Amino acid sequence: MKIIEKIDDMIRLRSQLAEPVGFVPTMGYFHEGHLSLVRQARAENPLVAVSIFVNPTQFGPQEDFSSYPRDPQRDLDLLEKEQVDIVFMPPVAEMYPPQFNSRVEVTKATERLEGASRPGHFRGVTTVCAKLFNIVQPTRVYFGQKDAQQAIVIKKMVLDLNMNLEIVTLPTVREPDGLAMSSRNTYLNPQERQAALVLYQALTLAQQLWSQGEKNAQTIRQQMTEVIQKQPLAKIDYVSIADAETLDELDTVKPPALVSLAVKIGSTRLIDNVVLE
Ligand code: PAF
Repeated sequence: MKIIEKIDDMIRLRSQLAEPVGFVPTMGYFHEGHLSLVRQARAENPLVAVSIFVNPTQFGPQEDFSSYPRDPQRDLDLLEKEQVDIVFMPPVAEMYPPQFNSRVEVTKATERLEGASRPGHFRGVTTVCAKLFNIVQPTRVYFGQKDAQQAIVIKKMVLDLNMNLEIVTLPTVREPDGLAMSSRNTYLNPQERQAALVLYQALTLAQQLWSQGEKNAQTIRQQMTEVIQKQPLAKIDYVSIADAETLDELDTVKPPALVSLAVKIGSTRLIDNVVLE
């Protein structure tokens, strides 16, 4: 496994490789969700590259960039076991030198949900992903459905900017009790960890109501909201039922519909979603 920190070295190496590259961009601190992306990339491509880079430009000033969990040695050990070929882990100054002045921005799909709650977040994500795609020149890039809006925004960037690669989105990996795996779950104390199950309970309720024939989106949102409000440690940011492609909020559920929510459990903000098919 080659570990590369310099952009020039990564570009040089890639130019010597003719085979397709499956790429998993990450911020590290791996859990089974990340590893499921790496395994799929391994299964579908002769070469696999993973980036580990906690991207400062996608964190707001009051967000957790400095405290975001990091454990590069453990991450590298896990990637070695998954037989990854290349790990790109640049320092921040390598990706954003002092004279860096460019931004990549997708409009519309970034205006609601995470984009509304976290101003500038998606501009940071699309900027870093555009850079990573230019540097790694991947054939296929793997994202998790847990960050559903991120995957939609990246797909739009790839389409609009004619990037010659395929985006693959893979299902959310959950703990046995339903909590979606996330690096931020490590912030939860045992009481909050228990309370965090309310996200999955609300999503499961939405699925149940839909399968029982409920089509009124507001009725489903309302019932989800009531479930979450019963949990004293939970504070709702948003509960949304939107068109799974445009992210326009729906009055009447028309599949595929993205049911997504952001809820603060104590001081930890968690997101999760399901698709109503
Ligand atoms: O999903 C993530 O971990 C990040 O947003 C990404 C795609 C690696 C960009 O920094």
